Amino acid sequence: MQAVSRRLGHQSLKPTASIASIKSIYPISDQYHGADQPRYVSTIASKGVGHLVRKGTGGRSSVSGIIATVFGATGFLGRYVVQQLAKMGSQVLVPFRGSEDSPRHLKLMGDLGQIVPMKYNPRDEETIKAAMAKANVVINLIGREYETRNFSFEEVNHSMAEQLANIAKEHGGIMRFIQVSCLGASSSSSSRLLRAKAAAEESILRDLPEATIMRPAVMIGTEDRLLNRWAQFIKKYTFLPLIGDGSTKIQPVYVVDVAAAITAALKDDGSSMGKVYELGGPEIFTMHELAEIMYDMIREWPSYVKVPFPVAKAIAMPRELLLKRVPFPLPNPDMFNLDQINALATDTVVSENALSFSDLGIVPHKVRGYPIEYLISYRKGGPNFGSTVSERMDPDAYP
Ligand SMILES: NC(=O)c1ccc[n+]([C@@H]2O[C@H](COP(=O)([O-])OP(=O)(O)OC[C@H]3O[C@@H](n4cnc5c(N)ncnc54)[C@H](OP(=O)(O)O)[C@@H]3O)[C@@H](O)[C@H]2O)c1
Repeated sequence: MQAVSRRLGHQSLKPTASIASIKSIYPISDQYHGADQPRYVSTIASKGVGHLVRKGTGGRSSVSGIIATVFGATGFLGRYVVQQLAKMGSQVLVPFRGSEDSPRHLKLMGDLGQIVPMKYNPRDEETIKAAMAKANVVINLIGREYETRNFSFEEVNHSMAEQLANIAKEHGGIMRFIQVSCLGASSSSSSRLLRAKAAAEESILRDLPEATIMRPAVMIGTEDRLLNRWAQFIKKYTFLPLIGDGSTKIQPVYVVDVAAAITAALKDDGSSMGKVYELGGPEIFTMHELAEIMYDMIREWPSYVKVPFPVAKAIAMPRELLLKRVPFPLPNPDMFNLDQINALATDTVVSENALSFSDLGIVPHKVRGYPIEYLISYRKGGPNFGSTVSERMDPDAYP
C-alpha cells in the first residue's frame, strides 16, 4: 500500500483506501514506462523555505505548486520537460534568447498563462534574476555539443550552470535545482564538453548541495541529433560513416524517459536531493548495432564506411582550427564533431552502482519500437510504405 501511494505521489492518501479503489481511479499496472505514470499532484519536498499552494486532482488545469524556471527549454529535451511539468499543473517560466518564435511551441502545452516565455540574456545577470524571481524550482538544460565563435564549451556548459546555481542560492526560495549533465562527465575525460559538465556539477554541488544532477546518455526521440543525422546522411550519400570500427558502446535513452525522471525527482519526498542519477536506456549497443536498428527502421540496405579515429579527427580538425581565426561564422559540425570523436574513444554506459531510473520508479523504454518510429519518415516509398511498429505490436506486450 505504501509503495502504491508513493508511486501515486498522494501524500494525503488515506491508508484505509484499498488498492482496488485506487486502481479504479488510476488505471495502474505494476510497472510504469517513462511518462506513462499516473498523474498526481506534486509532493515537491518543501524543506526550509516557501509555501506551496496545491489545488485540483493533478491534471493540466490543477495547481501543482511548482513554479519552474526551465533554462534551455527551447531545446530537444526542453519540450518534453515543459510538457510534463504543464501536464501536472505547474507554471513554467521559459527564459529564451533570440526570436520570439523559439518558445512558441511550448506555450500550447499549458493552459492560458501557464507557460510564460521570458526574454533573457545569458550574459546579463539581471535578466536571469528576473526569470527566476517568481520560481521555486530551477531546471538547467542549457548545453551545446560544439563551440561557436561566441560561446566556448566552458561558458555554455560550466559557467552558465555555475551562475544559475549562484543566483538560485542568493534567491533563497528555490526548493529544487535540477542540473542536466551528461553521462560520462568526468574531469579526466578526453572530451572538453564532458570535462566542462563535470566542472559544472562540482560548482553546483558546492553552492547548492541539495541540487539533483541528471546525467542522461545519448537521447533518442523525434528531434534527436543522432539517428536523424545518420538517416539524413544516408539519404544524401547512401552510406554511413562509422567512426573507429563502430565498436564503441553506448546506452541510448528515450528523451521522454529523461523528462519523466526530472519530473519524478521533483515529485518525490526530497529523496533525490543532493543525488546524481545516471540515465541510460535498458540496452547497451555498439554504434554499429544501433546503426543496424536505424537501417532496419528506414528500410535501407546497410552500407558503412569505417573511418579510423585519426582520419575522423583530421576531417573534423579544420573547423576547430579556423573557428576563432576567420572573421565569419563556420557551419556547425554535423557528423564529424571533434569533441564527440574524442568522446567516442571510450564506452559511455551507466556505471555499476549508480542511481538510475529504477530509483525514481521509472522503467525506461527500449529503443527498438515507438521511440524510433519517427524514422519512418526516411523510408523509401514514404512513411506509409509497409507496416509500423505500432501496427505490428500489441501495446500490452510493449516494451
Ligand atoms: N541531446 C543529447 O543526446 C544529450 C545527451 C546527454 C546530455 N545532454 C544534455 O542535456 C541538456 C539538454 O540537451 P538538448 O539535446 O535538449 O540540447 P539542445 O537541443 O541543444 O538545447 C540546448 C538548450 O540550451 C540553450 N543554449 C545553448 N547554447 C546557449 C547559450 N550560449 N546561451 C543560452 N542558451 C543556450 C539552447 O537555447 P537556444 O534554443 O536559444 O539555442 C537550448 O534551449 C544539455 O545540457 C545537454 O548537454 C544531451
